[in-house]
Amino acid sequence: MEFELKTQYWDDPVALSAFKDFAYRIHGLDFNEFESRGFWDSAYTPFSLFDGETVVASMCIYSRDVVLDGTRTRLAQISGVGTLPQRRRQGLNRRLTDIGLEWAAGWHDGVFLFSNPDAIPFYQQGGFKAIEEFVETTPAPRVKTCPGAGRLDPDRSKHLQKIYEFAQARTPVSEKFGVLNAKLVMFHVLHDLRNCVIELPDLNCLVMCGRAPGVLKIYDIIGCEIPRFVDLYPYLANKEDEVVEFHFFTDKLGLGNRSTSVLKGNNPFVRPGFPVENPVFPYTSRA
Ligand SMILES: CC(C)(COP(=O)(O)OP(=O)(O)OC[C@H]1O[C@@H](n2cnc3c(N)ncnc32)[C@H](O)[C@@H]1OP(=O)(O)O)[C@@H](O)C(=O)NCCC(=O)NCCS
Repeated sequence: MEFELKTQYWDDPVALSAFKDFAYRIHGLDFNEFESRGFWDSAYTPFSLFDGETVVASMCIYSRDVVLDGTRTRLAQISGVGTLPQRRRQGLNRRLTDIGLEWAAGWHDGVFLFSNPDAIPFYQQGGFKAIEEFVETTPAPRVKTCPGAGRLDPDRSKHLQKIYEFAQARTPVSEKFGVLNAKLVMFHVLHDLRNCVIELPDLNCLVMCGRAPGVLKIYDIIGCEIPRFVDLYPYLANKEDEVVEFHFFTDKLGLGNRSTSVLKGNNPFVRPGFPVENPVFPYTSRA
């Protein structure tokens, strides 16, 4: 059966709606709030096979403005990959992946993705390489806490707007591997990091963070300047913290005592030649 290939169709409301239905059906992802709040990102390019007004298979390439070792460039993340159950193992997504990768070649410095456990064989057999990813950690210092940190609430339009303004004006959190797409930050703000955005007015920055027992997890720091950790931590400190975990390279934080450990569970894959070795993927770079 021949399906219709469509790409760059975000301005076609029927096709966009079909894509959102598909994303919900395959990944349980509801993009409606993200879209209605104005954060839909044209840097996210779909390659989809349609049967009439229904998406049967799709993959997207998210084009990322990044800083790698101090140089501005682009990386491509493959995301939104899926095929309707009744159409699997017919070569549809392999075909879309080939088309998407050809489109991205030449103007991206590397390709990465995070795989669902079930999709690992698909990527292994499609020329992708499984790699390890890392987080950085430091022992939580004992400090006197500073008042002034306040949570921003994405349900409040003014707060959401403030977060977006910070994200648009940000400097990369790392010069080693930093990502700049503001709209993707907003995706995280409306989903997995919804209750995690803390404003530090004294330091003119936002910190996205959460806690597991004994661990403060810092996902991102968003500002025109990245404060040093010694200046930042007193605003976040909790006497239960034993370790602080960073989901980005900490080259700007001035950490004295720093370790690196493997982060399990996200199944990262790259195309050969990916330019970052032993990456700490910035958390808010994940789509
Ligand atoms: C993973 C997925 C996108 C593959 O789509 P698809 O259209 O069935 O893939 P293709 O038919 O193009 O597969 C190409 C090759 O990949 C490998 N492959 C694909 N699915 C596989 C599976 N479940 N187990 C083992 N190998 C698999 C095979 O080598 C296959 O070639 P073959 O059928 O000739 O042996 C699909 O199974 C899916 O939608 N899964 C649920 C959502 C998901 O996990 N998405 C990925 C998010 S990262």
